Amino acid sequence: MDNIDIQAIRAAFPILKREVNGKPLVYLDNGATTQKPQAVIDAIIHYYSDMNSNVHRGVHYLSQISTDAFEVTRRKVQEFIHAQHDHEVIITKGTTESINIVAQCYGKAFIHAGDEIIISAMEHHSNIVPWQMLCEDKGAFLKVIPMNEAGELDMEVYRTLLNDKTKLVAVNYVSNALGTINPIKEIIDLAHASHAVVLIDAAQAIQHIPMDVQALDVDFLVFSGHKMYGPTGVGVLYGKEALLNQMPPYQGGGDMIKEVTFEKTTYNELPFKFEAGTPNIEAGITLDAAIDFIQGIGLEHIKKYEDELLAYATEQLLTIDGLRIIGTAKEKSSVVSFVIDGTHPYDVGVILDKLGIAVRTGHHCAQPVMDQFGIPGTIRASFALYNTKEEIDALVAGVKRAVNMLI
Ligand SMILES: Cc1ncc(COP(=O)(O)O)c(C=O)c1O
Repeated sequence: MDNIDIQAIRAAFPILKREVNGKPLVYLDNGATTQKPQAVIDAIIHYYSDMNSNVHRGVHYLSQISTDAFEVTRRKVQEFIHAQHDHEVIITKGTTESINIVAQCYGKAFIHAGDEIIISAMEHHSNIVPWQMLCEDKGAFLKVIPMNEAGELDMEVYRTLLNDKTKLVAVNYVSNALGTINPIKEIIDLAHASHAVVLIDAAQAIQHIPMDVQALDVDFLVFSGHKMYGPTGVGVLYGKEALLNQMPPYQGGGDMIKEVTFEKTTYNELPFKFEAGTPNIEAGITLDAAIDFIQGIGLEHIKKYEDELLAYATEQLLTIDGLRIIGTAKEKSSVVSFVIDGTHPYDVGVILDKLGIAVRTGHHCAQPVMDQFGIPGTIRASFALYNTKEEIDALVAGVKRAVNMLI
């Protein structure tokens, strides 16, 4: 943990000083959303105190500085994910909206009856349902890459699923329910060899793993601001310019048009073609501060530190009798999902909450994953760069206490 000054990092997050139920907060629900550093909170206050104005439409001073700040974020994201052009970065509400844009717009133009779309057995509902809706609409078929008991994708079966009917592959980089890091470069290369385009759901990767869309050669990459220390209500759809240009717009409204008459409307250029209406300006502008925060520490340092937390948590939790970790892939990100014989995840979660420990319990919006493991849900601890080994000790002690109370 050499390169991380954990106390300085914790001090940057005001919420970490609060108590919950009379106990110091131990926040281990970072997969659901991360806490926000003071720099992001300050940026939000600054926006409303000094800049508030609509973007991309006013000639007046405030509108210009808001527009400039919004576009600074776009360029910051471009650099952060190494996109070739800033107009390949579409600012959306979040991962869910980004996936829906691709499903509806790419789907409308390019998916036809009999085509096949491949997803994986470990997707979040937001990377399942939009494709099911598209398939239903178009008479296309959804195929699923299975996974083994460790929660690793079966790449041999994936190879056999790919064929000349495969038009699109949509897979998460990191599973929110299991923590598995998928071999996405291989997934992308195999899909491209079959002339299919690839969407990578990076909602659980962008805050842990350096991203280079050009090196990956990925067609679409999606993620949310609120899981990367940024504000809620903002996310990103990265798409290759050529593909975005061939797709029809998502919603009609202001900003996405060039000219409107009652006879015909012409659409705006990228990225505005996909950004109808007033965006979440505050969140769009302040996502910049979240990226600065991450870059100030460095993703390689963050990953190394979180890997140590993951290894420690795994080792310590396994000392508890009857505890089984769900998701034991060789390549994992900082998520530990577990069940304990004779207890229900919800009951354990409630007791942990009384101790000030925030974990997520349930199916984590990944019901098919729970079905495969034959369980109703798990208890999930997901770590961020401000978590500590002491907090993991508190979790382990809390789980032991819960087990004593429940069994
Ligand atoms: C892997 C994955 N994909 C998609 C989503 C949906 O993200 P959002 O609710 O921010 O749109 C989540 C949220 O937990 C996720 O973990």
